[in-house]
Amino acid sequence: MRVSIDSATCQGHGRCYDLAPDLFGEDEEGYAVLTELTADRDVPEGREGDARLAAANCPELAVLVHEQ
Ligand code: F3S
Repeated sequence: MRVSIDSATCQGHGRCYDLAPDLFGEDEEGYAVLTELTADRDVPEGREGDARLAAANCPELAVLVHEQ
């Protein structure tokens, strides 16, 4: 599984990085970014549930989950 952020849709609600701060971070304006655990790599084994939780809790549906 991989995740991505639709930066055109993210409004900075912050639920993703509050729920899974190792998988998602924030830029200087509070918009979501990927972290070293999720950028250009698979979500670490065992963390898929938190990735899905973050996606489900984004009110803008800006956290995208890519099942592989
Ligand atoms: Fe953005 Fe959604 Fe996270 S709006 S900061 S991707 S909860």
